Formats: sequence, C-alpha cells, structure tokens
Amino acid sequence: MAVDPFANSDAEPPSAPPPAAVAVTRAAGQRHLFAHWDRLDTTARRRLLGQLAAIDWPLVGALTGRVRDGALALPAAESAFDLKTAITPPCRRLHGADRADGRAVGDRGREALAAGAVGAILVAGGQGTRLGCTGPKGLCAVGPLSGATLFEVLLGRLVAIRRRYGRGVPLAIMTSSATDAETRHYLETHAWCGLEPDQVLLFRQQDLPAFDAASADILLDAPDHVALAPDGHGGMLSALAAIGGLDWFRRRGVAHVASFQVDNPLAMPLDPGFLGEHLRADAEFTLQVVRKREPGEKVGVVATSGGVTQVVEYSDLPTDAAAARLPDGTLRLHAGSIAVHAFALDFLARCAGRADALPLHAARKVVACLDAEGLRFTPVSPNAVKFERFIFDLLPLATRVCLVEIDPAEGFAPLKNPSGSTADSPEHVRAALLARARVLLAEAGVAVADGVAVELDAATVLDAEDIAAVVPRGQLIDTPTVVVGPSRHTAGARHTQGGE
Ligand code: UTP
Repeated sequence: MAVDPFANSDAEPPSAPPPAAVAVTRAAGQRHLFAHWDRLDTTARRRLLGQLAAIDWPLVGALTGRVRDGALALPAAESAFDLKTAITPPCRRLHGADRADGRAVGDRGREALAAGAVGAILVAGGQGTRLGCTGPKGLCAVGPLSGATLFEVLLGRLVAIRRRYGRGVPLAIMTSSATDAETRHYLETHAWCGLEPDQVLLFRQQDLPAFDAASADILLDAPDHVALAPDGHGGMLSALAAIGGLDWFRRRGVAHVASFQVDNPLAMPLDPGFLGEHLRADAEFTLQVVRKREPGEKVGVVATSGGVTQVVEYSDLPTDAAAARLPDGTLRLHAGSIAVHAFALDFLARCAGRADALPLHAARKVVACLDAEGLRFTPVSPNAVKFERFIFDLLPLATRVCLVEIDPAEGFAPLKNPSGSTADSPEHVRAALLARARVLLAEAGVAVADGVAVELDAATVLDAEDIAAVVPRGQLIDTPTVVVGPSRHTAGARHTQGGE
C-alpha cells in the first residue's frame, strides 16, 4: 500500500517535519514550506500537513519550473490559427429582424426542455476579488426591489422553467474552497431556492497554490497555511468528471448541458432559441456572444483562422487586431464571448478523458503573503503568479461549433466591480434588471409610469407570457412593484413600498 508522506491523521505531528513530506515538496522545487514549523502548535502543524497533502505535487513541480524560467505564456499551439487573418465565424442572431425563423428554432429548444434532455452547469467558485466579496458572489443581493440574491435569481429561473416545461433541469453547481461551505449552507437554509434538492449536484473544483513571481516559491499567507486559489472556471471539467457528474447527467436523460456564470443575473443559458440553434447546428460547443462595438471592450472574442476556432482573451488581443474593421465598419473580431455555453454531453466526456484538454494560463496577481519576519501583508502591486484553466479552451477540440449572438440588454449584466465603478457594478446590474422588466412588460401590453421601478420575480416570470397570465393588458403600473407570475403564492403584482 502506498504511504502518504503527509500522513498525520491520528498520531501527534512529529516535532520535526516528516522527512517524506519534505522530500516530496523539495522534489517539486519547494524548500521553504516548513520554515515556521518550530513555532507552530500541534493544531497548526496538522493544518499545514493536511493542506499540503491535498496538493498535486507533480503538477506543482511543473508549474514551479514555469515560474522560475519565466515561461508564463503558453507555447503557441501547433495550429494554422493566425490572428492577423482571423475572422469572426458566422453568427446566428437571437434578436432583431434576422429572427425570422425564430419560432421553429425555439420549438427545437422547447422540445428538448420538455423531453428533459438539457442540463445546466453553474460556475460559482470564483473569489470575486474585484467586487471585494467576503463570501460567495451568489449571495450578493441584486434584486432592485426584492433584494433577491444572484442564486435566487438564477436558480429561480430554473424553477420557472420546471413549471413551464413540466420537467426540471438537472443543475450542477461548481463551488471552490472559497465558496463551498457558505454556498451549501445558504442553499440548505433557503430551500434550494425553490429547486428539488435531488435536481442539484454541488461539486467542488480544485485549488492551486499561488507562486511568488520572483522566487517561484509557493506563497504562505500564514505560517501554517499555503495561499491557494481555485483553478479557474475551466476546473469544472475535471472536477465534474471526477465526482461522476457527467454520468449523473446521463442517468437523468441529459444529452446537452448549458453552462453559465453566477455573476450574470440576466444569463439565459436555457433560452429555447439558443438551445434550438445549438441543436439545429448539431454543435458540440455553442457560445453566446454579444457584438463588440468598440475595440477596447474588455471581453474575449471568438475568432476563426486556418480551420481553427478559438476564444482570444482581450488581454491577448493586439491593439491593431482589436481595432481592425471590415469595409462596412464592423469590427473584424466582434463576437464577444459572455461565457454562456451549450455543450454536447458526449463532447465533454471525450474532453474529460484527455489530460491535455485545458492548459493552465498564468496571470500576475496581488496575493497576501508573509514578510521576512513571518507577518502577513498585502502587497500594493502584483507579487504572485496564479494559474487557471478556461473552459473556452475546449473550443478547438469541438468538431462543430456554433455562435449565437444575443442582445446584451436581454442576457448580459455581469457583476464584477464594486459600487460606484464605471462598469459592471451593482448599480449597473440593478438598472439592467429594471430595464429588462420594462421591455417584457411592454411586450405583455403593460405600461410602467416614468421613474417607477418594476422587478420581475425570477421564479415565476420567464417572459411576457407569464406576465400576461397575471397582469391585464393595458394596465398601468405606477408604484414600485415586484411582478409575481403564475403558481407562486397568490399570483399577481405585489406592490412594494419604497423602491428606487
Ligand atoms: P471571474 O473570472 O470574473 O472571477 O469569474 P471572479 O472570481 O468572479 O472575480 P475576480 O476575477 O476574482 O474579480 C467568472 C465566473 O467564473 C466563476 C466565477 O464564480 C464566476 O461565475 N469562476 C471563476 C469559478 O467558478 N472558478 C474559478 O476558479 C474562477
């Protein structure tokens, strides 16, 4: 039987670091991890050994080498992709005048939902550093009047879908060490936001250590604690496969899964038109995109060249390629990816079987760590290298890819930055939810007085059809109101005092 070099479970941790543990960490190029051992008490020693035991040391050895050698950029893939000549792949549009055959496409999506053939993956493991989260972002209140959290809005929409189509959508939610305990507690104490508990699978992604950018040492953020961070939203593939999540979907009859992110309360991963386009194209990987209008917009673009389609992150897009325009004035690379995807389940299973499917990207970040005296401090400029996997790196592995352009006003309002920021702040998100509500109310023939805030209850209102079921056409809403659709409490419009 293999011996665990970090084993410390029952016995008292030894007075000196276990030699086998020292050997494993040194072999990975890490010589300093037990520097504070002598001043740690028994509990702290146990904590450190427990944390080190969970680390993938062969992988850390390879990453240490990359940081030490300054090899942070990934080697160029051996493909014919060339950014100079890359173009935007053809996009289907889910909005505007081009939606002529929308009904038929939407029917395919509706049929798949009614047949229970669609599942969903929500990634909610991020640390929300820009927003300044102290817990999971999913617990942030975004409902302009109701104060509904991101989880309540996003999971609520699945409740509404269950009512509409008569079938629940199995949902896998990815958490991380940063979000897992609080997310579980929140969902358990909030009745799973209206979903059936057996409809939800919580799974936790892996952590990776942060490295000192200068020395390539793994950073300690306490004498007994390594600075760890989740391994990126791409961590979903291996983490889901490892707990049998792909089979969990398959056993429920799922053949396609839509993925979305916890910080976009307008996300429409289960929009029938989007799913219909994915099915009609028989695609393995379908992406929702929004049209980039300005070269400087901070969104990755989908580009194709030499028969290869991939997402180019905005930080990797040279200024001239970002600014290049077609003769009609459109940006040459205008399909901004908003991280709402649909995958064929078989495709995910195929990719999960490949160790090299998702490379680790390096990024320089600020990470709190210990100074020479062993005291914790937070540097003012990036001191660390973190590694992350991105799920869109699966794109070149897909045989058939489909792009679906949506109107951002309908499906994209990310919460990234703190209150008062110029973009993607809580104020922007609330304004987007209010504006979307007004549009759907107008579609249902309901007017809203100027300056009056109206919110749609996510768990009961999917679209204008649900509004029409509870609010008579021609009605004017002139006080702040949360519109509650059919089959929840007493259906109708609930007037809210105060509001905006
Ligand atoms: P971001 O890359 O915007 O990260 O995540 P973030 O954690 O929300 O915010 P910053 O960058 O620290 O400020 C986009 C989506 O991917 C998820 C996040 O929860 C969010 O839904 N994500 C990100 C993960 O699930 N795991 C990760 O390791 C990273």
